[in-house]
Amino acid sequence: MDIYDRYILPFFINLACGTGVFRQQRAKLVTQARGVVLDVGAGSGHNFPFYDPKLVEKLYALEPSAGMRKLAAKRAQALAFPLEWLDLPGEQIPLADASVDTVVLTFTLCTIPDWQSALAQVSRVLKPDGRLLFCEHGLAPEPAVQRWQHRLNPGWKKCAGGCHLNRPIVDYLREAGFTIQQLDAGYLPKTPRIAGFVSAGIATR
Ligand SMILES: C[S@@+](CC[C@H](N)C(=O)[O-])C[C@H]1O[C@@H](n2cnc3c(N)ncnc32)[C@H](O)[C@@H]1O
Repeated sequence: MDIYDRYILPFFINLACGTGVFRQQRAKLVTQARGVVLDVGAGSGHNFPFYDPKLVEKLYALEPSAGMRKLAAKRAQALAFPLEWLDLPGEQIPLADASVDTVVLTFTLCTIPDWQSALAQVSRVLKPDGRLLFCEHGLAPEPAVQRWQHRLNPGWKKCAGGCHLNRPIVDYLREAGFTIQQLDAGYLPKTPRIAGFVSAGIATR
């Protein structure tokens, strides 16, 4: 692993994911997590302060990047409930079938290389009455914005750790067998449109 992947990329992802517009999304969604929670691609732990300690029993934070896990250390220490790191990708969730009440997926589905396998794993570990809380940027509805997303995607992916600009998030969730129970989609303020169309909501198996 080179210096870019180990230090520079985590530094910039941590910075980008910590902005106020992202925090507003987290405050609406992550606060709803309850029971045994799995945060897929937990990154530098920006979701951690938003988990309600009265509702969360245990948090599994799955994050394959050692650099990102290191940046999460302070936020991890502040948690008032047990945290267990899983240093694996979302395609290999090492938890038992139907063992998780809430899966949290924030700004991560854009990056997971094999999203089909990862969503199949999410579905496998969720309890039958479990919920997937998602907040992901992806393909915009307007053809003009889409054209730029497709055009810029190859270069963006290279610089942004594999992040795609143009993934149709809700289609992916439906394709993976999830039912969308709640959806709030729209552009984030103060964010370029190519990266600012966000789909947030709740899905069930
Ligand atoms: C843009 S960051 C988002 C981090 C965090 N979810 C947040 O909301 O701040 C994307 C994260 O996905 C992680 N990631 C990359 N490949 C992954 C994979 N195959 N499975 C799970 N996470 C992955 C990256 O290491 C990174 O921490």
